[in-house]
Amino acid sequence: MKSITAIYPGSFDPVTNGHLDLIARAARIFDHLVVAVLQNLEKEPLFPAPERVQMLREAAAEWANVEIDLFDGLLVDYVRRRNAQVILRGIRAISDYEYELQMALMNRRFEPGVETVFMLPAERYSYLSSRLVREVARLGGNIEGLVPASVVERLRAKIL
Ligand code: PNS
Repeated sequence: MKSITAIYPGSFDPVTNGHLDLIARAARIFDHLVVAVLQNLEKEPLFPAPERVQMLREAAAEWANVEIDLFDGLLVDYVRRRNAQVILRGIRAISDYEYELQMALMNRRFEPGVETVFMLPAERYSYLSSRLVREVARLGGNIEGLVPASVVERLRAKIL
């Protein structure tokens, strides 16, 4: 029987409830889902890579077919190493589409055998991003309901 592994790459600085909504949807479709945290971001992250991984592990513990991993370098090289068939990305609004299309086509150029699959998170998360969560937290706004409880704690500890 064919078994499909999907890689869900991202910065996850930090993981939001929108990411988790997508993980829940994808865990129902794919046999194995690897959430791949990009280690070295272009900008200095708020959370170091091991902490971004730890937050995801805590938040995604309920799904037996979901694995959390770190990667660096080209995404397609990592996808090949993992013998995955799919790159999963979430699209919230039409504004995400252009950047996602560019990435998907660039990745296809390097690895035509891998398909990028786009999924939609629940509408209630369509405005949510890690960048906005960091900003709201930094300015003292309430981020409960936007990120998992353990992330609320870590953000408070980091920012206060
Ligand atoms: O959560 P993000 O920041 O939107 O995720 C972007 C990510 C990690 C998917 C993208 O930056 C990426 O794949 N980086 C790895 C380097 C790479 O392969 N770059 C070329 C992509 S076409």
